[in-house]
Amino acid sequence: MRCLRLAVALLLLVALPLAAAAGAKAKAPAAPPNATVAMAKGGCKAFAALIAASPDAASTYDAAASGGMTVFCPSDDAVASFMPRYKNLTADGKASLLLFHAVPVYYSPGSLKANNGVMNTLATDGSARNYNFTLQNEGNVVTIKTGASGDVARVRSTLLDTDPVAVYAVDRVFQPVELFKPAPSPTPAPAPAPAADTPKAGKGGAARHRSPPAVADAPGPEADDTAPADQKKDSKKSAAAGAPRVRWLAAALAAVAVASTLA
Ligand SMILES: *[C@@H]1O[C@H](CO)[C@@H](O)[C@H](O)[C@H]1NC(C)=O
Ligand SMILES: *[C@@H]1O[C@H](CO)[C@@H](O)[C@H](O)[C@H]1NC(C)=O
Ligand SMILES: *[C@@H]1O[C@H](CO)[C@@H](O)[C@H](O)[C@H]1NC(C)=O
Repeated sequence: MRCLRLAVALLLLVALPLAAAAGAKAKAPAAPPNATVAMAKGGCKAFAALIAASPDAASTYDAAASGGMTVFCPSDDAVASFMPRYKNLTADGKASLLLFHAVPVYYSPGSLKANNGVMNTLATDGSARNYNFTLQNEGNVVTIKTGASGDVARVRSTLLDTDPVAVYAVDRVFQPVELFKPAPSPTPAPAPAPAADTPKAGKGGAARHRSPPAVADAPGPEADDTAPADQKKDSKKSAAAGAPRVRWLAAALAAVAVASTLA
């Protein structure tokens, strides 16, 4: 009996540190915070819903988060008044507009206020350097100008600031010059091609969005294209992480049991 207890105690001496090490290892890779969830909670529910409804935009947002991302989400009021113009866009145009509201760099509130100038967005094609906007700090206010509209968007509040993702609420929908020309005369909207709404037709646009922006430190095409695989890997990892935790708990319970029998 004594021998058995000793054997169990020795086994635990070996097993406990191993289990603890496994537990610590499983905790290390933290998933980036979910920008869409932060938007929905912070008064940008409509914008979050538009992203969710655009597979191309949603996957790019998800893939960009781990590499660092700052999102400027228009308030529900701003989106509501913009909806007639949004609905006029093709599926590709919609995805580009949504991706135009995020940059592939994490800016904390402090670094956002310290930055001025042209920024590439998730919609930017690296070689074309299109879909950029100008960030300007005016007094205590961070403004965004696209060049398309005379309108200036202003950052109103911080919804999320957890490295590597920041989300700020803005008071207007950004209008890229690529989709909304600064027109003295009314411009014809992009002709809605019959195929434009099928996922296949959106693919060409998807490839374009996925080129790495030239200025900012962005996830490359590979990073974006392998996003589903990465997510699968992550979920597998977190599933596996459950196992060491269970083992750890079992070992701890056994230790308590042994301690009480030895006492
Ligand atoms: C974030 O949350 C949304 C809505 O729940 C979900 O569709 C999306 O896949 C999540 N993204 C990540 C990277 O977990
Ligand atoms: C910003 O975008 C415009 C319009 O596509 C383009 O003409 C310009 O070269 C870009 N600027 C920079 C600095 O990339
Ligand atoms: C939508 O497009 C049509 C056709 O090009 C145009 O006549 C109309 O003014 C556009 N509506 C809005 C709200 O932009």
